[in-house]
Amino acid sequence: MTYKENFSDKKKFHITTFGCQMNEHDSEIMAGMLIEKGYVQTDNREEADIVIFNTCSVRENADKRFFGTLGQLKHKKMQQKEAFTVCVCGCMMQQQHVVDTIKEKYPWVDVIFGTHNIHELPKLLDNLHTEQIKQIDVWEDGREIVEDLPAKRLFRHKSFVNIMYGCNNFCSYCIVPYTRGRERSRKPEDIVKEVRMLAADGVKEITLLGQNVNSYRGRSDAGETDFADLIYMLADIEGIDRIRFMTSHPKDLSDKLIDAFRNCDKLCKYIHLPVQAGSDAVLKDMNRKYTADDYRTLVKKIRAAVPEIAISTDIIVGFPGETEEDFEETLKLVRETEYDSAFTFLYSIRKGTPAARREDQVPEEVKHHRFNRLVEAVNESSAKKNHAYIGRIERVLVDGTSRSKEGTYEGRTDSFKLVNFTGEAGLEGKIVPVKITGANTFSLTGETADSLKL
Ligand code: 5AD
Ligand code: SF4
Repeated sequence: MTYKENFSDKKKFHITTFGCQMNEHDSEIMAGMLIEKGYVQTDNREEADIVIFNTCSVRENADKRFFGTLGQLKHKKMQQKEAFTVCVCGCMMQQQHVVDTIKEKYPWVDVIFGTHNIHELPKLLDNLHTEQIKQIDVWEDGREIVEDLPAKRLFRHKSFVNIMYGCNNFCSYCIVPYTRGRERSRKPEDIVKEVRMLAADGVKEITLLGQNVNSYRGRSDAGETDFADLIYMLADIEGIDRIRFMTSHPKDLSDKLIDAFRNCDKLCKYIHLPVQAGSDAVLKDMNRKYTADDYRTLVKKIRAAVPEIAISTDIIVGFPGETEEDFEETLKLVRETEYDSAFTFLYSIRKGTPAARREDQVPEEVKHHRFNRLVEAVNESSAKKNHAYIGRIERVLVDGTSRSKEGTYEGRTDSFKLVNFTGEAGLEGKIVPVKITGANTFSLTGETADSLKL
């Protein structure tokens, strides 16, 4: 069989996504484009004719898992040849050494592309079909932002919306500026148009995505739009009830954005504010451009303006040169800040970044020991924050029936707390009042409440 015959009828595709929301959304766009071309999406990788891996290179374990899963496909590829297509894309492909490894060790991969040209996937599959040769097309940097791409959303009632691409911050541990390129903001009118279409299609909640949304600068004939202006513009769209965003760099979070939390009911009272470390020496080496006290002051300011706001963070343990004292500064900051939740990471060497070249790497066992102590402190604070919700009535956007317990729903509060609760049938996609009756470290439990009390 040739690629030509393989692509002649409705083929099933499967996408495996590693990494962040940005990657998840890229996968939704790839799915949207393939469905528009007549392909059918399947949840089962085994039965797929086309398999796509959307990779992440932020930390080492994601790339290990990718190579492990890719290797499992060799047997099927050898048996089915052109009847089975394997595509790899995403952040890892922006690194030449990864592309070289794939060419050398996985030469049966059919299509390789990067983060800047996901819109080319249909074309690359067509070329594979007509030219009968492997397609490798990785762009070094983002060119024009491509608008009007379709997306197959995971949920009917909520959606991600990219507002910008890339990052200019060059934190010394991070690979993202190299894999996603320099910052580029979408035009506000393009974002508004997309959100209007989403609202017309039943979307109630949008999550605005960017590596650092605080540096959003939308340029159009009407002038410049900053991130807070954009939020107000989107809040005017009828049908959109909730606006969230990810991620926000503490160094340039504006007072105007804090005001937006106060003035704009639709802006959810939740902020993810990565601190990364609590030691000034480590923050400096990380090139974060704030001190631990700057961060404390910022959190105080946000909480003074919006007392009910939930705050989460990212923390890296074992950055090169981190001493026990440095780490204790991080623990201290975590205990003081009382986060609602935190993503904790073991520092992992990312080839090509400044921190990777340092000789004072922290031994693995020291990193692990610190990591466990940090997780304990974070969990204690999450449990405490969650317990404070018991007895409250919260507006919950219902995502669907619960994966963990049969007969219950799961959804999110305005403050992004996960709630498992009982209620009558047909609540999916609605915002309902839920009385919180229980709390643990990672979620709340409850039951639907009389809406008059909300
Ligand atoms: N090692 C460990 N964690 C990292 N992150 C980014 N790069 C690394 C790395 N090399 C974490 C940061 C960032 C989150 C998305 O991933 O905490 O905020
Ligand atoms: Fe990476 Fe720093 Fe940019 Fe975030 S702000 S993507 S951590 S370089």
